[in-house]
Amino acid sequence: MNIGVIGTGYVGLVAGSCFAESGNDVWCVDNDAAKVEKLKAGVIPIYEPGLPEIVDRNLREERLTFTTDLDAAVKKSFVIFIAVGTPPTPSGAADLTAIFEVAAAIGRSMDRYKIIVIKSTVPVGTSEKVREILKKHTTHPFDLLSNPEFLKQGAAVEDFMKPDRVVVGADDVRAGELLRDLYAPFVRTGSPVLLVDVRTAELLKYAANAFLAARISFMNEIANLCETVGANVDMIRKGLAEDSRIGPAFLFPGVGYGGSCFPKDIKALIDTGRQHNYEMKILESVDAVNQNQAVRFVEKIRRHFGGDLRDKRLAVWGLAFKPRTNDMRDAPAIKIIESLLAAGSTVAAYDPEGMDEAKRIFGDRIQLTSNNYGCVEGADALLIVTEWQAFRNPNFERMKSVMRHPVVFDGRNIYDPVQLRQSGFTYYSVGRT
Ligand SMILES: NC(=O)c1ccc[n+]([C@@H]2O[C@H](COP(=O)([O-])OP(=O)(O)OC[C@H]3O[C@@H](n4cnc5c(N)ncnc54)[C@H](O)[C@@H]3O)[C@@H](O)[C@H]2O)c1
Repeated sequence: MNIGVIGTGYVGLVAGSCFAESGNDVWCVDNDAAKVEKLKAGVIPIYEPGLPEIVDRNLREERLTFTTDLDAAVKKSFVIFIAVGTPPTPSGAADLTAIFEVAAAIGRSMDRYKIIVIKSTVPVGTSEKVREILKKHTTHPFDLLSNPEFLKQGAAVEDFMKPDRVVVGADDVRAGELLRDLYAPFVRTGSPVLLVDVRTAELLKYAANAFLAARISFMNEIANLCETVGANVDMIRKGLAEDSRIGPAFLFPGVGYGGSCFPKDIKALIDTGRQHNYEMKILESVDAVNQNQAVRFVEKIRRHFGGDLRDKRLAVWGLAFKPRTNDMRDAPAIKIIESLLAAGSTVAAYDPEGMDEAKRIFGDRIQLTSNNYGCVEGADALLIVTEWQAFRNPNFERMKSVMRHPVVFDGRNIYDPVQLRQSGFTYYSVGRT
C-alpha cells in the first residue's frame, strides 16, 4: 500500500519506517528541511534503539522516501497519517496549529479518495474540526480515522512492531477494516485491534497516559509519606506489585514524570474536562504531586547543605527524561538544574545520549563532561536524575576518590542504601530512610 506520514518526529519516523519494513511504500514528510536532508542521508536525528537499521534498510530497498513535498506525498499515497506535534499552550490545552495546517494542506493536495488518519494525540472532538477543514479544501471524498499511538520512547520500534493493542477509531466500517489490515503484520501474536468510534479512540489515548501518570504520582505520594513516617517504599512497591489486581508497572517513585507526553497530555485532559464543565479532580492532583516532586528533591539537597547551595559543585548523572532516549522535553533534570543554578551552585552533568540536547538547552551554563566519572570530579554531591543502566553499578571507590564530598542524592532509587553507606557515602533516596 502507498502510505504518507506527515511529521517525522518520534512517532512519524517510527511509524513510517515500520510500515515500510512490512512492505509498504512510505513517503515521510516534514517541513523541517534540515531534518529531511539528514534523514535522506540515513542520519537519524533521535536516539531510538533499532531504528537506524530499519531506516537504512528501507532507504536502500527504496520503500522509504523522505521529503518536504507534502503535495507529492499526498498524491502518491492512499492512506495518510498525520503525526505532527501537539505541544501544550500556556493554558494547558493542546496546540493544534500544526494539525490544522497539515489538514488544510492535505485537503488542497487531494486528487481522489483518501483515508486520512490522525495519529497525533489530540483532544476528543478534534477529528470533527479536521473533517471541516478538509471539506473546506477539497471536494474529493475521504474517510477520517483516529489511530492514536502508544509507543514508548526508548522502545519505540519494539512497541510499534509488537503493540499490546492497536486502537482504530473509525465511523466508517470499511475504512476501519482497511486500517486493521494494515496493522495485521504487527499483531500476528494475537494482540487485539480495537475498532471503536473516533471520539472513543481520541479519548482512549489520554485515558491510558493519565492512568500511567496517576500510578507514578500515587507512588510518589506514598514515598513522600514513607520519608515522614520512616517506612520503606521499596517494600511497599514490591508488596503492591505482587497483587495481581495492581501489577508491577509504573510504580517506581522518583523525581516525577517528564517527557513530551505525560505532562502535556495530563494538562490537556484537565483542559478538556474544563471545556465541558467537568473538573478532573484526580488529574489535577496527579499534576500537582508531579510538579512538586522535583521541588522536594532540590529541597532535600538544600537541607543537607544547611539551606545554602551557593558555590556548591553538584554533579548530575542523567538528563534525558528517561533512559534509552535523548529526549529532554519536560525532563525533570531541567527543572532541578535550573533551581540549583538559581541557588548559586555550579553544575556538571553527564548523560549517555542527551548531551547535544543539554548543550542546546543550557549552553555554557553547566559543564558537560564526556563520562560519568569526569562529572563527579571535585563534586560536593552526586545527583542521580535518570536511571540509565550504565549508572547502576559504578565503581564507588573511584567515585569517592575524586569527589570532594561522598554524598549521593539518588532520585531514582537505583542504589542499595546499606551498600552505599557501608562504602562511606552519605546517601539520600526517595521514600527510603
Ligand atoms: N513521543 C512519543 O513517545 C509519543 C507517543 C505517542 C504519541 N505521541 C504523540 O504523537 C504526536 C507527535 O509526537 P512526536 O514526539 O513524534 O513529536 P515531534 O515533535 O518529535 O515530531 C513532530 C514532527 O512534525 C513536524 N511538523 C510540524 N509541523 C509540520 C507541518 N506543518 N508539516 C510537516 N511536518 C510538520 C516537526 O518538524 C517534527 O519533525 C504528538 O501528538 C504526541 O503527543 C508521542
